[in-house]
Amino acid sequence: MNIVQQIQEPIKVEMELFEKKFHKSMATKVALLNRITYYIVNRKGKQMRPMFVFLVAKMVQGEVNERTYRGASVIELIHTATLVHDDVVDDSNKRRGFFSLNALWKNKIAVLVGDYLLSKGLLLSIDNGDFDLLRIISVAVREMSEGELLQIEKARRLDITEDVYYEIIRQKTATLIAACCALGAASVEPDNAELIERMRKFGEVIGMAFQIKDDLFDYTDGPIGKPTGIDIKEQKMTLPLIYALNTATKEKRKWLINSVKNHNEDKRRVKEVIDYVKEAGGLTYATEKMIAYQQEALQLVEGFPHSPFKEALITMVNYVIERKK
Ligand code: IPE
Ligand code: IPE
Ligand code: MG
Ligand code: MG
Repeated sequence: MNIVQQIQEPIKVEMELFEKKFHKSMATKVALLNRITYYIVNRKGKQMRPMFVFLVAKMVQGEVNERTYRGASVIELIHTATLVHDDVVDDSNKRRGFFSLNALWKNKIAVLVGDYLLSKGLLLSIDNGDFDLLRIISVAVREMSEGELLQIEKARRLDITEDVYYEIIRQKTATLIAACCALGAASVEPDNAELIERMRKFGEVIGMAFQIKDDLFDYTDGPIGKPTGIDIKEQKMTLPLIYALNTATKEKRKWLINSVKNHNEDKRRVKEVIDYVKEAGGLTYATEKMIAYQQEALQLVEGFPHSPFKEALITMVNYVIERKK
């Protein structure tokens, strides 16, 4: 059994049923849209977010209910919508090992499909009166947009600090994983505010580790199913580069900033920057920070009684930082 199968073992039934419900949640009468949603569900991702929803619900309550399923679908719909939009924003032509929607159908259509998926997600909650879950999800949607815009602001001015980097990744990525874990708990224990908050925090710190890992991937040669080495091209400064900047001599710092500012399309120059970041220990530093977040997550679940769900959740936390894609 590989690590993903191990994680899924205690939620096998739930994940199978989830896939059917998720597919159904996109249904539409518009033929073009139908073709596109068919394309999307056939190239599914790792589905880590629904896995977090189900594992948390089962760890705290031992079982899931219809609210849990709906919550998992809403989260995956919103996650998919943000990826479709993200590839437009990042001008990226590859996703999940194949062409992105903007590469195949152009930006216009990708923007509209993203909006469609988002609205379908929100309506799934509203139509069923899951207003407590909708609040959790809507906070995440708002924060994700804020995080993406803060990232663009910093990419334009090239003045990002380490603290602002953490704020960006908390908003654009960690907040949705936080919502998964809060929602998993809220779906089965709606009145236990303390538990919901604890699980939200748990998801948030995993989400931080998750995005640092994603940013580390950009410094590798893949294959991870999406382009690598595009962050510098997009003038996106992530933790390895921020560390390299902070530890560089004044001259080197100038060279780094100038490279990102004026030579970001020059492949050879970008490669030089990447090599410098590695030499300066940027990857090691980011890895250390990622592990610190992973450890914080493990501490937050320590207190729960032993169960296969808790075990799988711990395996999942480790998978976040050890994964190969
Ligand atoms: C990608 O998320 C977007 C980030 C927050 C880095 P995933 O890596 O979970 O994407 P899929 O769903 O598996 O493709
Ligand atoms: C993650 O952003 C996507 C969102 C959280 C909206 P990135 O642009 O860093 O992620 P990938 O690498 O394209 O998946
Ligand atoms: Mg992006
Ligand atoms: Mg991107």
